[in-house]
Amino acid sequence: MVQKRILISLFTGAGGLDLGLEQAGFTTKIANELEPQACETLRKNKELCNLSSAKVNEFITKSLEQKCFKHLTSIEEELFFKRIRKHTNKEKYLQESTVIEGDIRNISSSKFSSMLGSDELYCIAGGPPCQPFSKAGKQKSFDCAKNGDLFYEFVRLVGDLHPKWFVFENVKGITFTKTDVIYQKCLSCKSQEIIPFKMRQEFENLKHNNECIKCGSTNTEWKIENVAGGSLNIIVNEFKKLGYQCSYKVLNAADYGAPQIRERLFIIGSREGKVFQWPEPTHQKSKNSNCQQDMFATNNIKPWVTMYDALWPGTHPIYGKFDKNMAKLWVKNVVRPHDEPVTWNFDRPSPTIGAHQGAKLAFAPNGVPENQLYRQQWATKGRKQGDTPPVPVEHVYLSDGELLKLQTFPEWWYLHGTRMQRAFQIGNAVPPILGRAIGQAIILSEELHDD
Ligand SMILES: C[S@@+](CC[C@H](N)C(=O)[O-])C[C@H]1O[C@@H](n2cnc3c(N)ncnc32)[C@H](O)[C@@H]1O
Repeated sequence: MVQKRILISLFTGAGGLDLGLEQAGFTTKIANELEPQACETLRKNKELCNLSSAKVNEFITKSLEQKCFKHLTSIEEELFFKRIRKHTNKEKYLQESTVIEGDIRNISSSKFSSMLGSDELYCIAGGPPCQPFSKAGKQKSFDCAKNGDLFYEFVRLVGDLHPKWFVFENVKGITFTKTDVIYQKCLSCKSQEIIPFKMRQEFENLKHNNECIKCGSTNTEWKIENVAGGSLNIIVNEFKKLGYQCSYKVLNAADYGAPQIRERLFIIGSREGKVFQWPEPTHQKSKNSNCQQDMFATNNIKPWVTMYDALWPGTHPIYGKFDKNMAKLWVKNVVRPHDEPVTWNFDRPSPTIGAHQGAKLAFAPNGVPENQLYRQQWATKGRKQGDTPPVPVEHVYLSDGELLKLQTFPEWWYLHGTRMQRAFQIGNAVPPILGRAIGQAIILSEELHDD
C-alpha cells in the first residue's frame, strides 16, 4: 500500500500552496493560520467539498446571511451564487485536515506531534510573512522586529518534527536585499561560520571570544559583512544546521501555467539528503516570431497564458464583446513609481496580484485616459495625487472568481470575509498550479533517488 504523504501546513492563509500539494498527492493533516477569516475559508471549503449539489444551495444561502457578506451588491451575490454552484463535489481538498487557529508562536511542537499520532510526517510547507532582515546592531528594525521571528517558528517545527521534506516559500527580495551577516571566525580551527539566528538576535550582548561553533576554542572573533541576499543565507544556514539538504530558487508562476507573473522564492529541504530536481517550466514568454513558435512546438513548451484567455476568452460578463487592444487591467487610484505601470494589456499574464492590490484591480473596457495615468504615476518627486482633478474611468472591479482564476484556484473556492479580507487571502496565496509543480517534483526527486 502506498503510504500517504502527510503534510503539515503552516501560515496556510486561503490554502493555495496546500491545494497544489494535494493535487500532487499530499494529504494535509494539520493547517495553522492566525487570521480567523482565513481559518473559516479552510474549514468551509472542507465542508463544501462534501456537499451534494442539492446541499450547495443551502450552503450558499447560509453563507450569504453572514455579516461579512452583508454589503454585497445584487450582481456580486449573483456571481457568488454562480461561482460556488460550479463545485461538483468531485474535487475534494483538505478532507483530513484539522485547522489550528492561532498564533504559531503560542503553539507547541508537541501539540502538532500529538495530533499527528503514529502517522509519519512527509512534509512541512508554508510561507511565513517576512521582510529581509536588516542591520545587525542597535536599530529597532534589527531582524524585522514585527515578523522577523516568524520564519524561525517554521525552523522550530522542522527541527522538532523532522519531516522528510520541507517547502519554505517567500518573497524573492530575501535573495538580493543587502543584509548584515555575522560570522564567527575561529583563529584556531580557521573556520568561518554564520552565527545561528538566535545568537544573532542576542548579538549586542555577546562577548568577544565566544566558543567556536565548530571546535570549542575561545580564540574567535566576529566579522560582520553586508551581503546581498544575506537573509537567504541566514535562513538556509538554520535548515542546514538541522541536517537538511537545501536547494533554493526563484520560480515564476507564469512559467508553470498561471496567467500571472508571480515570482516567489522556494527553499526545499530533504532530511535524507536527497537532491531536489526543480520542476521544468511548462510555459514561457512568447516572442511572437515563427522561430519561437517552432521552438514551443519542439520543446512542448507553451506560451504564457494570457489574462484574456484565462478570464474572458471572447466576452466579458458585463461588457460583452470587447476590444482587447483598447481594454486595460487598471489598478484603480493606486499611485505607483514612474517605472511601474498603472494599466496592463490583456494579451499577457496579469501582474503579481498583491495582497493589498487585489481589491483595486479593475477591468476598464475603454482603457484609462492619459491624464488619469499621470495622476497615478510618480514621475517627479513630490507630485501628489490631488494635484490634478480626478478623471472618470469606466470600470468594474475584478470579481473574487476572476482573481481566483488568475491565481489558478478552483473558481468555486469559498472565501470568507469582507471584500478586502477576501482579496487579501487571494493576493497572499501561492498559485496552486505552482504548488502542484513543486509537489510533483518532490515525489519525482524521491523516486529518482530511490532507484
Ligand atoms: C503569505 S501568507 C500564506 C499564504 C498561503 N501559503 C497560501 O498559499 O495561500 C502568510 C499567512 O501567514 C499568516 N500569519 C501571519 N502571522 C502568523 C502567525 N503569527 N501565526 C500563524 N499564521 C500567521 C497570515 O495571516 C497569512 O495568511
